[in-house]
This record gives sequence, structure tokens and C-alpha cells, in this order.
Amino acid sequence: MEIKKEIEILRKELQQHDYVYYVLAQPKISDFEYDKKLKRLEKLEQSHPEYITPDSPTQRVSGEPTKEFANIRHRVPMLSLANTYSEQELRDFDKRIKGLLEPEETYEYVTELKIDGLAVSLVFENGIFVRGTTRGDGITGDDITNNLRTIKSIPLRLIQYDDAFHDVEVRGEVYMPHGSFIRLNKKREEDGEPLFANPRNSAAGSLKMQDARLVAERGLDIFCYQLIDHTYPVKIPNHFEALEQLKRLGLPVNSSACKCQTIEEVLSYCHEWETKRDTLPYEIDGVVIKVNDPSQQIRLGSTAKSLRWAISFKFKARQVKTKIEKITWQVGRTGAVTPVAELAPVHIAGTVVSRATLHNPEEIERKDIREGDAVLVEKGGDIIPKVVQVLEKERDSPSKRYQIPKNCPICQTVLKRSEDEAALRCPNYNCKAQIVRRIEHFSSRGAMDIEGLGSAAVEMLVNNNLIRDISDLYQLKKGQISELEGLGEKSAENLISGLEKSKKQTLDRLIFALGIPYVGVTAARILAEYFRDMDLLVSADQTFLEQLFGIGEKIAESISDFFTGDENRKILEKLRDAGVNFKGSEEKAGDLFNGKSFVLTGTLQGMTRDEASKMIINQGGKVTSSVSKATNFVLAGENPGSKLDEAKNLGIIIIDEREFMKMVAK
Ligand code: IVH
Repeated sequence: MEIKKEIEILRKELQQHDYVYYVLAQPKISDFEYDKKLKRLEKLEQSHPEYITPDSPTQRVSGEPTKEFANIRHRVPMLSLANTYSEQELRDFDKRIKGLLEPEETYEYVTELKIDGLAVSLVFENGIFVRGTTRGDGITGDDITNNLRTIKSIPLRLIQYDDAFHDVEVRGEVYMPHGSFIRLNKKREEDGEPLFANPRNSAAGSLKMQDARLVAERGLDIFCYQLIDHTYPVKIPNHFEALEQLKRLGLPVNSSACKCQTIEEVLSYCHEWETKRDTLPYEIDGVVIKVNDPSQQIRLGSTAKSLRWAISFKFKARQVKTKIEKITWQVGRTGAVTPVAELAPVHIAGTVVSRATLHNPEEIERKDIREGDAVLVEKGGDIIPKVVQVLEKERDSPSKRYQIPKNCPICQTVLKRSEDEAALRCPNYNCKAQIVRRIEHFSSRGAMDIEGLGSAAVEMLVNNNLIRDISDLYQLKKGQISELEGLGEKSAENLISGLEKSKKQTLDRLIFALGIPYVGVTAARILAEYFRDMDLLVSADQTFLEQLFGIGEKIAESISDFFTGDENRKILEKLRDAGVNFKGSEEKAGDLFNGKSFVLTGTLQGMTRDEASKMIINQGGKVTSSVSKATNFVLAGENPGSKLDEAKNLGIIIIDEREFMKMVAK
């Protein structure tokens, strides 16, 4: 057979097999036979690269890692839906629909499972998958085509495609099935990497990875729920038929969609799935309810943010009963001492939960939480599980009220309780736990990212009195480390080279790594961008810091306190002597706003306020948070606040976004 023909036939066959395997879950041939065909195709394509096409099943994982995802504007905005948690609100929604349509007009709903993942848009041109984007802010999203191509249930070429569908956009939810999630976290645990809190977070993390080869290993999947035909927008009679059409095109569609004639039917669908959600191999967080008829959808329209013809009914967070085996206390890097409930392990939403935060001593007292109590634990979308209720009736009779400790569990120093009695604090700056936590933070991924210095190594180094603060790290000698039990020659080498590399980290990371209370990643970036030099930051005046956009009083005071301390100054000197980078990037776009001071107010359309302030700083200007006589310009977006009036009163120049962009473009 002619090679080109054989390639085409193999491709068609493999595409069909992908479809029945990944979309319908009804494989027709064995994995062995499938692999044989794939290998044959690979071989033919290798010897005839001129025949390789982007939709070939061999091309799912291709291309170089992406440095930065391109920003793409959605042709139709990706709006979100209003949420409701109660039956009453759903009935109100139905009344609203009825009221907005003509009297006596009939309507029906389609109910679907609300998959807990991330919305994406897939564009098919002439049947070929050409582009995939994240929802982003609904107006523009990131181009993650290469990552989405690795999801095997997304056809690289539509099935049963005819010319009528030559320009379609499909929207759906990318999710991580429980099986993939458990496998991924198990591997991360083995590799000593931080675990993902839930399948949604891990799907989000996976889609943002720059290397598609790694995404392919994450086992992501998708359900499609919206078809936008850009050529014939009104051809599909209703939403339910659109779902059927998506299936015919070869896209994965969840099979639970249902037509409902009344709100009672909708409610019973919601309740049915709230009880059945744990039987699914993926996470759902509610039900989406949509008006079926597209002409009614158009008449119902949308508000600025969400559609009026659809709503999502969110399930309540899952609660599971378990027992508090013990209450332990954790000392954080700033000395905060927080209670943790050590639980009898239970499964909730794909993870095993064995600890829950109890927030603070006040919470324990108020809820009268005791060791040995049976409790209800809840895990919502958030990361840390919570104890929501004590089941007092199940208490063993001679149970005692829990006594809040008076001394630090680590250094035994007498603990201090805050004025409102809520928080507990260990005032001993040299408490070993605080030392360990500070160094862990310094070394962590978002900070100095020191290879070879995980929690266990930090603890070992501190316990053996080799380090007391972050600057001691850079004095470590290979021989000292390799002598420690469990570390050895290789780990010592790794750590020394990791430390060496970390000296070149950027200024924003160093600022964040110092662990100044309230200075998170964002504040650290702002400070690095503005000062571009550690020494300038150290000597900055508190009132000046307060004025910086995004900093404010609390952070400014904390920075000022931190750099006034002798101890911290000494640490900084030692870091400098060790050769740690203290300089920010030299690059500045220009001097356009040299010495000029801006205040931003209201919502900007084409950029965020953060982006605008970066542009100003990059041109030598300054962004402050309140208007004064020293302000040169007020950049006002939509719905500006009182700052606009203040500017008018003081006679300060007010510019809008267009004028600002003109200034920058000059
Ligand atoms: S419809 C009509 N259907 O939930 C367009 N959304 O705010 C609006 N989601 O952003 C979305 N499953 O990320 C729709 N079957 C489903 C869905 C679904 C999950 C997500 C989607 C959307 C959010 C609703």
C-alpha cells in the first residue's frame, strides 16, 4: 500500500480507538494491538516526516516547553454563573425567569452536574483542534493549547465532522479524576513535594505547567458543556440538542444531563446528586441549571458578570464524623501558637484527613472542644479541614474540659495571650521551633528555593547547633553537613550547591524569604520593583512606605520594625558578606515619570491597577495610596472612589486610562 494511504488509515483507526476508549470508555481492541498500530504509525512518520500533521495521534505531546502563555481574547466572553446554596433561592430564580418571559410562556430547564475543575475554551477550525485557552478573567485567557492537547479525550480532529461545523468553539471543564489525584499525591509524597489539597487545585496547577510532557502524566480529563457555532449561531435548536451534537462531534459530554419541566424536578435532581456525589470517580460541587431554549436565553440575557438564564446550585461542604485523638500545638515562624486536632483518619473528597486546624484557643473554649470528642469535620473548597461541630451527646461520661497550655510546647517559655484573648504567642524569638520555621520559610519554593534543604534537613541542622538563623546557612561547610546522621556526602554536596545557587536569587524572593510579618509575595514584589536595592529598602522611612501602592500602614510598620532590630541588621550584613544578591533588576523602561507621583482609583478596563502601577514605577514614577498636594496625577478608572473628589478639590490633574496609555506610548 502507498505509505501516505497507510498513514491515513492508521490515523483514522487510532482516532476511532481513542474515541471509544477515552470518550465512551468502551475499548474495542487490546492495549497491545493499539500500541502496535501506534508504533507502526510512529515508524512510518519518522521515515516520512513530510506526512506528519498536527492532528496525528502521535503528536499529542509536542513542542518546546512554553515560557509564557500568550494572552488570548475570547470571541464571546466566558461569563460565570450566580451561585445559590438554598432551595428557596432556586425557587426565586424560577420565579424570576417566569416573570421575565411572556405571561403563559412555557419553558424547560436542563440540569447538569457541576464538575469541580477549570473552565476552558477549545477552538476547532475545519474540524481540527487549533487552540485551547483558560477562562482567565472571562475576557481574555491563557493559550494552553499544548497542555490541552495532552488530554486524550479531546479529539485532535472532530469525529463525524462536516463542513457545517468549520468554525466551532467548545467550552467545558477540565478536571482531575480521583484516581489520578490519589496517584499524583502519592508520588509527590514519595518525592517529598508538597501535596495538592484537592483535585481542583491539582488540575489548575497541572494546566499551568510549562512542559506539556509533564501535563500528559497528570491524567487530566474534560467534560464539554457548551457549543458555540460561530458560523451558524442559531442552527442548534436547544441546549440539550447542543449536548447531543457535542457527542456526535466526538467530544466527551457528561451523561447525567436531564430535561426538567418544573422547579420541583430540578430540586429533586439536585438532591439526588447531592447524595450520589460520592459514587462518582470525579468531584462535583453542585448542579448547573440552564434554560433550554436559546431564544429565551437571548431574551433573558445577562448582567455585567453573569448569565440570567442559568444558575448553579452548590452543594454544602462535605461533613464527616471522626474523633479527636489529641490536641497538639504548632509554633509558627512568627511565634503564633495554634491548636491542631489530631484526628482518627477519615476519607473526605479524595484525600485522607488526619488533622484539622482549631484556629486558636478561643475557638476551643467557645466550642468546648475536648480530647476524645466525636466531631464533624468539613472540607470545603478550601485547603485546611475544619472541625465544625462537637457531638457532645457521644462524649464519654468522665470527660474533662481542655486546658489551654500555659507554656510553649517547644521551649517552655510562658505563652502570651493577645488582648482579645484569641491568639496565643510564644514570645521567645530564639524558640527552636520558630528558628526552624523561619529557616524553612527562607528555603521554601516561593522564597530562596534552596535545593537539598527540606524540613528534615533544617531540623537536623538546628538540632545539631550548626545554624541559628538564616545567615548561618551560608557559613556551613560540607564536612559539617556530611557528618550528620542521614545526610551524608551526596546530600552535603547538593546542599552546598543549592546554597550557592540561591545567592543569585532575585531581590523580591530575598525580601519575601526574610519572613517579615505581613510581607507576602505580592508586597515583596512591589518593594523590589520600587527600591531595586535592599539597602534602600532597609533605610526607607515608615511614612514613605505607607504611601506605596499595595503596602499600607500595617505592612509599613512591620517592615520598619523588622529593619530597626539589631539582630536582623546583623543577619543582613552576614547575608551580604556571604555574597547573597541585594540588587534588583537594573532594567527600567524609561524615565518618563521621573519624580512624578500617581494615585490610582476605580476599575481600569485594559489592565489591572497592579499592572498600571508597575508601568509607572518602571518609568521612574511613584504610586501612592492617598491624594495629597504632592500628587501629580490621579489615574481614574470606572466607579472611582472619594479620591477623585479629593483630587478635584486640590486641583490635581485627572487622567483616564486612554490618556494614560497615550502618555506611556509616547
Ligand atoms: S455552564 C453557560 N455547565 O461552573 C456558561 N458550567 O459559574 C456557563 N462548570 O465557570 C457555564 N460544570 O467553570 C456550566 N455543566 C456545567 C459546568 C460548569 C462546571 C463550571 C464552569 C463555570 C462555573 C459556573
